[in-house]
Amino acid sequence: MFITPLVQSDCSKASLLHQQSFYKGWTEKDFKDFLNDPLIYGLKITKDDVLTSIILWREVGNEAEILTLIVDATYQKQGLASLLLKTLMTHLVHKNISQVFLEVAEDNEVALYFYKKYGFHLLNKRPQYYKREGNKCVTALNLMKKLSREN
Ligand SMILES: CC(C)(COP(=O)(O)OP(=O)(O)OC[C@H]1O[C@@H](n2cnc3c(N)ncnc32)[C@H](O)[C@@H]1OP(=O)(O)O)[C@@H](O)C(=O)NCCC(=O)NCCS
Repeated sequence: MFITPLVQSDCSKASLLHQQSFYKGWTEKDFKDFLNDPLIYGLKITKDDVLTSIILWREVGNEAEILTLIVDATYQKQGLASLLLKTLMTHLVHKNISQVFLEVAEDNEVALYFYKKYGFHLLNKRPQYYKREGNKCVTALNLMKKLSREN
């Protein structure tokens, strides 16, 4: 198992992961555009050459925003998301980044459990923010966590 940077040649597989996980997931071009942005970075975990999981984030000043975190369904509940998140938090602390933000759908109970377990708390809500099938909408929750060398 390896943790390495997410690079342009991963974008096709990363978009498949995103599309399997989210309604109207991001395309390969979306991922390529993200990685061309000098403020955006990604990490991946590969196992036997399979892309199992990714995390993508943006750094601006002393703040970071997690843009996405996905583990392939086959590899979930094996600690991969925890490993990516802990690796990212260590990296951010080394760069003196003190706050990390993210947005998650209110009905994504697994992700909410996961982020709360790692110390994220609710900052605010964006009602009816995410579009879903059949013209339905779901509220987005903005979560944040303060980082320090102690955590
Ligand atoms: C949320 C997600 C990233 C978690 O990935 P993961 O690798 O399975 O998480 P981990 O194995 O590190 O588990 C961390 C904790 O979450 C719990 N968990 C993970 N999946 C779970 C599930 N389906 N049901 C209940 N708990 C779950 C684990 O049990 C663990 O908690 P514990 O230590 O108290 O037992 C993964 O479910 C996923 O990719 N979901 C789809 C995409 C998504 O919603 N991303 C987040 C929004 S950006």
